[in-house]
Amino acid sequence: MEHEQRAADKDVDLGVDIAGVRLTSPLVTCSGTCGYADEYADLVDISALGAFVTKSITLEPRPGNDPPRVVETRAGMLNAIGLANVGLEAFLAEKVPLLERLALPVFVNVAGARIDEYVAVAERLEQVEAVRGIELNISCPNVKAGGIQFGTDGRMAAEVTAAVRAVSRKNILIVKLSPNVTDIAEIAAAVVDAGADALSLINTFTAMAVDIEARRPILANVTGGLSGPAIRPIAVYMVHRVYTQVARPAGVPIIGMGGVQYARDAVEFLLAGATAVGVGTALFVDPRCIVDIREGLADYLRRQGCRRVTDIIGTLQLD
Ligand SMILES: Cc1cc2nc3c(=O)[nH]c(=O)nc-3n(C[C@H](O)[C@H](O)[C@H](O)COP(=O)(O)O)c2cc1C
Repeated sequence: MEHEQRAADKDVDLGVDIAGVRLTSPLVTCSGTCGYADEYADLVDISALGAFVTKSITLEPRPGNDPPRVVETRAGMLNAIGLANVGLEAFLAEKVPLLERLALPVFVNVAGARIDEYVAVAERLEQVEAVRGIELNISCPNVKAGGIQFGTDGRMAAEVTAAVRAVSRKNILIVKLSPNVTDIAEIAAAVVDAGADALSLINTFTAMAVDIEARRPILANVTGGLSGPAIRPIAVYMVHRVYTQVARPAGVPIIGMGGVQYARDAVEFLLAGATAVGVGTALFVDPRCIVDIREGLADYLRRQGCRRVTDIIGTLQLD
């Protein structure tokens, strides 16, 4: 079901296509920053979004890491949530009913420590009509077993992608890449060869912050994942690299993310080659920023004389 086009931008077409799923806006939530929609339904204007991406779910419930697990940094935040989540069964029973009522496509972010866990969750999500896609989290830096290893090794990334691909028919398969690698384009190529329908990038950078008086790491987990404005220029670079080297030649769309707070940030990602743009950490600062970003994007298109957002995707001039 598609919601009515908003009055403020009816003269420009903000619709994009992610591997056959139609989004009425290129803006999506970043996994883990908007829960399962229930906690935020009153705060975030869902109708400004093109799709809702859930927090990671795993086969079994996970308590996550000990506190403190979030710390603000000068230009972003560090989190070490550790994939705390209710687990598949509670997700289906308690969270899916609200997601079914959202008038937009839902992508469920799936994490696991073993390939069979990813496959079991993906198989079950095939039976949930409201779910249109799976975002495979092979890139969480805050869990000790599994997770990150899948995303930093091309062979393992391909293996988990192929296994989930084999059980995904209704749901599109989006693979979320880690920036904690030497060359993100290599991992992108491996998962595209293994059958990914779309890529999302980037997850957070492994980082740490220190309490200098106590001479201890601030996070109980010692390290966390850095997100927010500090990482945006690196994320834009990585999106551009993956777009030119892998995604454009393969015809695979990218959901770009990392530090998007204003419309001009989203435009950077679109010009660099992203088809859709995730907003995450900025929601903690201002949950209404999605509306401003959407309106600012429409203004930009008007200024540039473009009728459709698709006219600017990947149009960065390099000479
Ligand atoms: C508090 C927090 C929790 C997150 N949880 C998840 C998660 O469960 N799964 C996931 O794939 N990414 C998770 N992320 C990463 C974001 O989805 C996103 O990739 C990253 O934060 C970069 O975007 P941003 O700078 O706009 O936040 C989380 C990020 C934050 C800040």
